[in-house]
Amino acid sequence: MKTAKYDKISQTAWLTAYPRIFSDIPFSEEIFSEIEKTLKSQGSAGVSETFKVSRLAPELEARYKLVNRLLDKNGSQQILELAAGYSPRGFIRSQDPSVEYVELELPLMIEKKRNILEALTLQSKIKINNNFHLQAGNAISSEDLAASARYFKKDQPITVINEGLLRYLNFSEKAEVAKNIHALLKQYGGVWITPDITLRKLLETQNSITMPGKNKEISEAINNDFDQNKFENENQAKEFFENLGFEVEIHHQAEVVGELVSPKRLGIDSDEVLKLIGSGSVFVMKPV
Ligand SMILES: C[S@@+](CC[C@H](N)C(=O)[O-])C[C@H]1O[C@@H](n2cnc3c(N)ncnc32)[C@H](O)[C@@H]1O
Repeated sequence: MKTAKYDKISQTAWLTAYPRIFSDIPFSEEIFSEIEKTLKSQGSAGVSETFKVSRLAPELEARYKLVNRLLDKNGSQQILELAAGYSPRGFIRSQDPSVEYVELELPLMIEKKRNILEALTLQSKIKINNNFHLQAGNAISSEDLAASARYFKKDQPITVINEGLLRYLNFSEKAEVAKNIHALLKQYGGVWITPDITLRKLLETQNSITMPGKNKEISEAINNDFDQNKFENENQAKEFFENLGFEVEIHHQAEVVGELVSPKRLGIDSDEVLKLIGSGSVFVMKPV
């Protein structure tokens, strides 16, 4: 399947990598500084200011930590993360040899990730094990998902994760991804954990409090009118996935508010934090 239509979205992997440097998510600073180094070595001034939004940190830290918590609670040792971008979760989790971790990303993006990880490995900052796999492909393609699953044992469940992908996909693309995941989970067993439940309220909060004007700028830079891709409310999102054959358990980012370190580092008070993360949910889904 062609991926050129999606390549511009890969710039949003900067948007999520940058705020993580204000959290205590391991390797966030190392990864971001390597991204900047690479861009500068290619003659650019570094990550464009369009994609550097520090006030997104509480939301992104909360979603990362809530996904981790739900992964510990519901997940399996065989993990497929779609659209992982520059996230460190995969190589961190695969330090455990009983884990098999596969990241499926667009081919151009996966090369960038590979280069960053190789540079950090050469500097002895990280260690990559052979139970960590980078798979080039498109999350909308059932063939690419099946190719990613070849690393997994057939008699054990899998967990599928995606963080920050579905908001850039229209409703028919979201449904394609969901159907592909459904088919995999029917075959292996397991769950799908995703915070990609972008509600109207979440975008309104981003547009009025978190980062006024930024979503429009980002939308133009990546040539993706993602405002069209939002869910009206949590019920609509739940029904969307239920109609595709999932049973849905809903969690909210506020569940991990006590674990956040970025608000203090950025001087954001607790009332404001609750506003920033208040519309963020994570769905844990199983095929019925
Ligand atoms: C907002 S970033 C999120 C990255 C990462 N999950 C994180 O939280 O830092 C969106 C990611 O989706 C990836 N992406 C976009 N379209 C895709 C597709 N069709 N298949 C796989 N990955 C895709 C982009 O390359 C980009 O890395």
